Formats: sequence, C-alpha cells, structure tokens
Amino acid sequence: MRKKNEIFIDPKVVKRVSPIGGCITTRVRRINEKKFKLIGEILTGSWDTTKQTIYDSRFHRDFLLFKSGKKSVYNWEGLYENIKTKGYIQNPNMRSVEVAIGRDGDILLVDGRHRLFCAQQLGIKEIPVDVVYSHPDYNFGNLKAIKDTIIPEIIHSKIAKKWDKAIKPYHTHGNVKQRLDFASKHLSVLDGCRVLDIGCNAGMFIWSIMQHAKSLIALEKQEKYYKQAQITVDCIKSLWGNNEKVKLYNTSFKNYALNNKPTCNALVASFVLYHMNNEEIKLLKEKILPLCKVVVIPTRAKERRSQINSLALNREISVRKLFTEAGFNVKVYKHKVRGYFVLIGTRK
Ligand SMILES: C[S@@+](CC[C@H](N)C(=O)[O-])C[C@H]1O[C@@H](n2cnc3c(N)ncnc32)[C@H](O)[C@@H]1O
Repeated sequence: MRKKNEIFIDPKVVKRVSPIGGCITTRVRRINEKKFKLIGEILTGSWDTTKQTIYDSRFHRDFLLFKSGKKSVYNWEGLYENIKTKGYIQNPNMRSVEVAIGRDGDILLVDGRHRLFCAQQLGIKEIPVDVVYSHPDYNFGNLKAIKDTIIPEIIHSKIAKKWDKAIKPYHTHGNVKQRLDFASKHLSVLDGCRVLDIGCNAGMFIWSIMQHAKSLIALEKQEKYYKQAQITVDCIKSLWGNNEKVKLYNTSFKNYALNNKPTCNALVASFVLYHMNNEEIKLLKEKILPLCKVVVIPTRAKERRSQINSLALNREISVRKLFTEAGFNVKVYKHKVRGYFVLIGTRK
C-alpha cells in the first residue's frame, strides 16, 4: 500500500549520480532529516551539473559482471531474484532509494544504487524514493506530486509548529486549512501576477498564492499575526532559497493605500472584506481595483458578525455587486458543505 506523500519515480529516469551522494563522496550532513523526510534540504551550488553517469560507476561495472555470469564483488543475486519474483517491495525499516532534484527537474541518484540497477534491469515501472536534496532554482514544476501535495503539507506542519509557540494562533481555528485548500484550487488566474493580499493573517495562503504569482505584497494590520506571517515567510524562503518575491508589511490596508503607490495587478482578499470600514472599501475601489486584471475573493456566503461597512460585503450578492460594478466578469465557486465561496473576477 502506498504511504501518504510517498514519491514514486520510474527508475529509468535516473541516469546521473549526485556528487553529494553517499556513493561518490562523503555524504553531507542532512539538516532537518527527520522533519524533511521526503523533501530534504534545499542545496545551492553546481552539484546538479555533474556529468558523472550511473553507468560510469564501479557498481554498474560490478552489476554487469553479475549479469554476464562472472564473479562480482557484491552479491547481486539475492536482491535481483527477490525483486524479480516478489516485485519491488519497499522494506519499511529501510531507507527508500534516495534521489536529488537538480535545477531542471533532473532526478539524480544519491543512494540505493543496488536496488536502482536491479529495478532498471527488471523493467520495474516505478519505485518509491526519498528526495533528499533539491536545487533552489528548481521550482517543483515537473514533479506534480511534490508541488501539489508534499510541499504544502510540509510547510503547513513546519510552520504550524512554530505558530503554536506564538500567541493565539488563528490557524488553529478548525476550518481554516479546509477553506484555504478549497480556495487554493482556484488560484491559477494569478499566473504571473503581482498580487496584493490584504489581511494575510499568519500567512497560511502565501505558499499557494506563490505557486502562481510573480510577486506578492501581503498586508497584516495586527502585530501578533504579522509576527506569525514573518515565520511563514522565513520558512518559505528557507525552502525556496532566499528571494525577494514576497514582501510582508505590518500595516492596515488604509495606511498602505494612502502612503504608497500600489503596483499590483491582482488582488487577493480572503475572509477580510467584512473587516474593512467604508473608507477602506472606497480606497479599494479607487486605488486598487482599477489596477487589477483579476481579483480572488474567498469568503463566506452568510456572515454571522455584524457588518461594519455599508455593503454587507461578505454576502454573495453584495460581493458580486462590488466587483461587477468595478468592471469585472465574476464567477463564483461554492464549497459544497461549508458555505464558503470563492469569487474570481477577471477584467471584461
Ligand atoms: C478572518 S482573517 C482572514 C485571514 C486570511 N486572509 C484567511 O483567509 O484565512 C482577517 C485578517 O485580516 C486582518 N485585517 C483585517 N482588516 C484589515 C485591514 N484593514 N488591513 C490589513 N489587515 C486587516 C485581520 O487582522 C486578520 O488577520
């Protein structure tokens, strides 16, 4: 049975050996080995440009000796026959074959050459692997499993641990992750955009937005939440390698709109419009919406709180009205159970 988050690859895609792997040089120490069981470490450098193929190694020469019926150093027969008769079964007490992902998405062998050669030779279609290193320039573009499932899981649990130490973490509200997951499905409209996220709270949405956006400015007015969002941004940067694509400000939308010249071309306002007063809604209409070619507004169809702006903005009708009047084609996607919806507005 497949374990959750296990990554499978075709053994034939592995053609090169990572020089940071145990088989070539001394293994470099794995940072956060336990926490990052699958994704491993983001490692800079040119290690992924090695020309050393797996077929140049003494292990492969030894395997060929075995295949031609000659005496080999390693006793290949047991492993080979085992995989041949029983199929490739991952022993839960053993490490999976370990690989690294280069900047172009190439999969390089780190360790587990005996199993890899046997699996390749026997025409096994896929084997489970642990990704122990990734190059920071690799944007997880090719391995859909990593991009869609593993990174968000790791990020969420890694950040959540740190959030837990911070005061009153908002993300512990039972349904926050659920509704963020729902909204995340609709973010491809942000492809290549410069996004403004108003009220980012602890920054739970940042990773999902940055799967699509070119850059992000995230605003959070409450300091305690802003501090949590800083943790999130730091975690994301440590996984990505440093970059300047995300900027986080401890400010209200009003202050931001009055004191800056916004350059965004997309808006994300998730469960936040109903917090904004009439003055802020006016600023939003005048200063932000005219710049935007797309808006993403996850919110709830019915709000229990009292309204502080005249539009009763969290109700579907009034949210629709606001963005249609601002010149957007509006589509609404409803969550089956929870009464959430995500409004996507694109320029007419
Ligand atoms: C209900 S939470 C939603 C958080 C997050 N966007 C989400 O979808 O889970 C609203 C957040 O927006 C922040 N907020 C409310 N009004 C704001 C404003 N005018 N400017 C910036 N942040 C604001 C609050 O402090 C809070 O963290």
